[in-house]
Amino acid sequence: MFNFKLIKEDKASKARLGEITTNHGKIETPIFMPVGTQATVKAMSSRELEEINAQIILGNTYHLYLRPGDDLIARAGGLHKFMNWQRPILTDSGGFQVFSLAKLREIKEEGVYFRSHLDGSKQFISPEKSMQIQKNLGSDIVMAFDECPPYPASRDYVDKSLQRTLRWAERCQAEMEGIENQALFGIIQGGIYPELRKQSVEEMLKFDFPGYSIGGLSVGEPKEEMYKMLDYTTPLMAKNKPRYLMGVGTPEDLVEGIYHGIDMFDCVMPTRIARHGQIFTAVGRKTIRNAVYAEDFSPLDPECDCHVCQNYSRAYVRHLLKRNEILGVRLTTYHNLYFMLNFAQQIRQALAAGKFIDFRDEFYQNYQLK
Ligand code: GUN
Ligand code: ZN
Repeated sequence: MFNFKLIKEDKASKARLGEITTNHGKIETPIFMPVGTQATVKAMSSRELEEINAQIILGNTYHLYLRPGDDLIARAGGLHKFMNWQRPILTDSGGFQVFSLAKLREIKEEGVYFRSHLDGSKQFISPEKSMQIQKNLGSDIVMAFDECPPYPASRDYVDKSLQRTLRWAERCQAEMEGIENQALFGIIQGGIYPELRKQSVEEMLKFDFPGYSIGGLSVGEPKEEMYKMLDYTTPLMAKNKPRYLMGVGTPEDLVEGIYHGIDMFDCVMPTRIARHGQIFTAVGRKTIRNAVYAEDFSPLDPECDCHVCQNYSRAYVRHLLKRNEILGVRLTTYHNLYFMLNFAQQIRQALAAGKFIDFRDEFYQNYQLK
């Protein structure tokens, strides 16, 4: 079971309001998806994730295949049961982590040979293998196995890579044939070359996947390039399918992505910066570890109504972080994820009220960008 309902299109932008239905429940879009690489959103229990209204989380094929193994997770009853998360899960295919983490990788037509970043052991992931792993994990949304070319990369390289990713997409679809409770999303590549993006979309559309993502962005190119690519690519994409921008998800990226018609985002940034003592507030990012907060007894974000901001002060959280107390990171992570989920929720409300552009203007007035 997988369905995407387009509820409303914004009149002043390409933004959309929608709803995805999966076997594990509904997802309101636009949505931010917390990243749970190792079958855990770092520092958050599934009860806490429910408390902050996370609607869908991400898992990673590459990591879970290496440890603890997808067969073990299958024996546990699948990823939902293993980690006690009963809402939707999306898993990335490994077609990105293999390129960013693995050592000595070799890309062949049949798949990618690499050495594990953990112990140097020889490994191989093919489109079929990635699908088999994701079937074992039992995620609601499965990503196709792709190659994400580095930035910068020559047009010739990106072109060849793209053609292979298209051939791999066909093999992924064949491997998922007959599977009804997992939706396979195609991934659009093409680097920063508009004609290649166009070709990628056109070829991917022929597969009639239930959803599509835009990959190969936020890999080191200037933000302007990324927004230019979005502006160019989203109008070519199917209107009645969800659009997912992979690995992108700061507050400003959500505003711009949604403006250009993106429905789904994921990013490790909110959880990663939390572990480094950085928090989001309505007026921008702050480093709560800094000495200026030593005697600041106000909440992390005075405008936030999360459990942390209702009960703890900046001075206290700073003290915990400085002392390397486990609770410090739990509290900053909780707040940052709440902030992102609430931010997406506010955007959905603005869209429903026909006020997205006002929301965007107000955001740029109040939120200090770095
Ligand atoms: N995560 C961020 N970018 C990408 C991409 O291009 N491909 C995949 N599979 N995952 C990603
Ligand atoms: Zn808060």
